[in-house]
Amino acid sequence: MNSEPHYLNAGLKFPDTDLPSGKIAWRSPSNIALVKYWGKKPAQVPQNPSISFTLSKSYSETKVSFSPADSGTLEMEFYFDGKRHLAFETKTVKFFKSLSGIFPFVNQLKFVIRSKNTFPHSAGIASSASGMSVLALVLCDMERQFFDMLQKEDNFRRKASYIARLGSGSASRSVYGGLVIWGEVENVPGTSNYYGLPVNKGIHETFTDYQDTILLVDAGEKKVSSRVGHGLMDSNPFATERFIQARSNMKMLIQAMRAGDTETFIRITESEALTLHAMMMTSQPYFLLMKPNTLQIIDRIFAFREKTGLPASFTLDAGPNVHLLYPKAIKGEVKRFIDNDLLPFLSPQGYIDDAVGKGPEKIL
Ligand code: PMV
Repeated sequence: MNSEPHYLNAGLKFPDTDLPSGKIAWRSPSNIALVKYWGKKPAQVPQNPSISFTLSKSYSETKVSFSPADSGTLEMEFYFDGKRHLAFETKTVKFFKSLSGIFPFVNQLKFVIRSKNTFPHSAGIASSASGMSVLALVLCDMERQFFDMLQKEDNFRRKASYIARLGSGSASRSVYGGLVIWGEVENVPGTSNYYGLPVNKGIHETFTDYQDTILLVDAGEKKVSSRVGHGLMDSNPFATERFIQARSNMKMLIQAMRAGDTETFIRITESEALTLHAMMMTSQPYFLLMKPNTLQIIDRIFAFREKTGLPASFTLDAGPNVHLLYPKAIKGEVKRFIDNDLLPFLSPQGYIDDAVGKGPEKIL
């Protein structure tokens, strides 16, 4: 499953006398992992497979204008929310340069990138999945438009996912809508360590309109970057067991989601969230990324479930915010629960009412 198809590394350039100008824009969503990717090998190969819901309302919208580079090498200006953003610019130049073997044409152009996120800036929501996948889609779209490549939608998406992965592992999953696996899973044909695969066929309808209300506990910047976090798994004493557990959780979760078994879904996804944090607590140096209000909320979710028997559950990212997951059918009850019991534990940004989404969209 892991051999690389030929179109992933086409290596094309414009004739020096015929450099294009134009604009491309895409919208690409964030995603929330149910089985977590935490730990990697070189070349952004995951230590274990992961699976996520692509979100709907939390996305990056990025417009890229390109024109011939006067200097004869890659040039860039990066604007975030209308203002030049040098940190994103440096990161994106580095990303594009790292791709110049695959897309040699990037060295011939000047890029002016204007990007924004729909979710509040520094609300502690990972923006690398949406931000990197949107850039990957733009670059693949250029290859498709100018080099007569990637005409088949499947090939286009697969390459975008492959490129997104090189920017940020979780971004490989944002290229598709619904439920997406990244990483080889035994007995699931088409899964790969190099790109994501949508796995919506055969999933029980309970999970096709799942809701994710993101409860914002702390608006601060992330305490530990993903890069550092993945690195810590290289020396975590529980890493080997964790990677074995993730593989087994993948199998059980897929089965449960096909059967519409919310009980198993909850048992596995909540354990995955706590294990991710347990890995951070047992690394050297160690990190405690939950806040007191994270635990207050989790406690109340347990109590709500106990009292009502309704399948509302939580997952966490590598931070203090709580993702409240539930089927659309119980949205009314959950809204009342949030308003009555959870509001005191939220930061002034409150919550984002998100849900499973259809994936990226070309807007220009
Ligand atoms: O894609 P990265 O390198 O930012 O890592 C993402 C890690 C988690 O969000 C914690 C888990 C995941 O699978 O998305």
